[in-house]
Amino acid sequence: RPSRKTIATTPSPAPFASPHPAWLPDAALDLVRTGTVAVLGTGRADTIRAELDGAPVAPPDRADLVVAVRDAVATAAELGLAGDLTQPPAHGYAVVREAGRTVVLGADDVAALHGFWAVVRERAVARLRGGDADARGGAADAVTTSAPLQPIRVLDHWDNVAVHPVMGQVERGYAGGSIFYAAGEVRADLSRVRAYARLLAATGVDDVCINNVNVHAREAQLLTDDLDGVARIAAELRAHGITTHLAVSFGAPVLLGDLDTADPLDPAVAAWWADAVARVYAAVPDFGGFVVKADSEGQPGPFAYGRTHADGANLLARALAPHGGTLVWRAFVYDHHQDWRDRRTDRARAAHDHFTPLDGEFEPNVVLQVKHGPLDFQVREPVSPVLAAMPRTRVALELQVTQEYTGQQRHVCWLGPWWEEILGFRLDGARTVAQIVAGQDGSNPAGGVAAVSNVGADEFWTGHPLAQANLYAFGRLAWDPTLAATDVLDEWIALTFAAADDAALRRLRDVLHRVMDDSWRRYEGYTAPLGVCFMVNPGDHYGPAVDGYEYSPWGTYHFADRDGIGVDRTRASGTGYTGQYPAPWRDVYESVETCPDELLLFFHHVPYGHVLHSGATVIQHVYDSRADAVEQLTEVEEAWSSLSDLVGGALPAAFDARVRERLAEQRRSAVEWRDQVRSAFFRRSGVPDASGRTIY
Ligand code: GCU
Repeated sequence: RPSRKTIATTPSPAPFASPHPAWLPDAALDLVRTGTVAVLGTGRADTIRAELDGAPVAPPDRADLVVAVRDAVATAAELGLAGDLTQPPAHGYAVVREAGRTVVLGADDVAALHGFWAVVRERAVARLRGGDADARGGAADAVTTSAPLQPIRVLDHWDNVAVHPVMGQVERGYAGGSIFYAAGEVRADLSRVRAYARLLAATGVDDVCINNVNVHAREAQLLTDDLDGVARIAAELRAHGITTHLAVSFGAPVLLGDLDTADPLDPAVAAWWADAVARVYAAVPDFGGFVVKADSEGQPGPFAYGRTHADGANLLARALAPHGGTLVWRAFVYDHHQDWRDRRTDRARAAHDHFTPLDGEFEPNVVLQVKHGPLDFQVREPVSPVLAAMPRTRVALELQVTQEYTGQQRHVCWLGPWWEEILGFRLDGARTVAQIVAGQDGSNPAGGVAAVSNVGADEFWTGHPLAQANLYAFGRLAWDPTLAATDVLDEWIALTFAAADDAALRRLRDVLHRVMDDSWRRYEGYTAPLGVCFMVNPGDHYGPAVDGYEYSPWGTYHFADRDGIGVDRTRASGTGYTGQYPAPWRDVYESVETCPDELLLFFHHVPYGHVLHSGATVIQHVYDSRADAVEQLTEVEEAWSSLSDLVGGALPAAFDARVRERLAEQRRSAVEWRDQVRSAFFRRSGVPDASGRTIY
């Protein structure tokens, strides 16, 4: 990542007045405001000063907490520290604890801000775990450093400026309207955006793309007619160190009425983009770049002109390069006009088939953004082989924080454990996905991680209040993918409920872990089994539809008949998708013997009587896990209810009411899933459920 341009930030206005400030309530800040403080530096150092407002200020060689930008300090003695001045790592920070004092040194102003939030977080967690939360800490002398593994840590918003007739204001948004747009315009009051940027900065997110990758006519104009509005949004995000990106339409030169072609090899098209980009940078000098969804689900792209995706991406990359901008090009390209009768076309193969032949052809400022699985954010998919298949291309991993296929923020579904699995998956047998996309060993260039945001204008930000934890976790795991999800959940709890007294905090911690730790696996338990995908209602993707996509142009996902179920993606007899994996996975997945149970039906078509590694037959597993998962919801509800005496105190009443309302809907929906899936497979297979539980 190039070093950041220095642009004056606007002073922080009164913070967004929310009754639900997510993980940064005042009480969390109080953990660092109790002692004396000093802040050294300019730029986002002002943001830190605003956060510490109210704390007594002391000289930097004596203050209990010092936060400094590296450039603003000459010697350790100035900070009252013995020895040489610790050098913070590039884009990161060092925290020096000495003689009961805490000194944070950021490589730049944004890194200092990240270091500041690290101290807040550590104190909150120490308190949760029974440590001493006093500002003077009592912590032993130590020097710790931290730097983000991923150069790009971006949240993509699928927000529309105008309400879309089908997709609404926020496509796949489950938290109300957009925080950026209302009534077809950029909002006049953007204080909510600033509050959002503040939340993100405390997790480590660096970049935000502010509009939907499906760029409709109104949204295309953001690039040209709305630059004032874009600049206002950028100013709010900038104050917290977040860089602004735009999703643009590949067809913009035509869509906006200026040219009759968008051919990437036409010089007039290149000139159009160069002009458009220059105007963006005139309005937003530290603009991050573009995100493009091309030749995907109806979006325009280079195929219309007989050009490749490298031609298309490079056109925009060359326009951005002189300004230091990045072009993110999405690899989500597949045929959504498939004939269900065609057994050879496999959507899972598409991104690899389209993009790997282009490895090495992209400009250096192009990042290819690849969804974590080969399909589309399903509740269980294998890791996409594309992530390890393009060693000469910058590749970014794309996750989905918004819970499109994981309960739409009506069900509790804590995604941390799944992301931990994905980031830590040794895709080429040696390196983890996180290491590969970070280019950690230098054998491929660095990309980063991206995710689709789950935030909206909802008072709790995310619809389901517990879905805030997913947003928090994305930022933390993007910064440090070696973190354990369970520790990240502790951090979120410690910060969110910082106002609770010690005893209440421990109870909240216990209950939230009981409710959330296994919630993704529980969700998988009552929905589609063993790697079957898209067993959902077409369109809104909520609720069960066993054959919802079976005869659709979007692909076919279970092929269940009276004898068996699953998609044969083997080289031996299926679509050959297993062959896209490097060793050992190409063989692990090829064989029913070694394929992990949870992905069995993603890779193989097997008889219902096939015995899993767990010892159960496939059909009995389908029956049992649906019913067991619903039974577990009773424990979840009971755990939540056990907090009732905290409601109105440590647990805000509105928060509790919203969680209860969502738990009721989760149960209703889970029962529907259970009964439909169990009944459908009984009717198909004729095999009775050995447990004797009711089938309809
Ligand atoms: C999913 C989602 C769409 C979205 C698409 C994408 O298919 O349902 O709403 O546009 O992903 O990632 O582009």
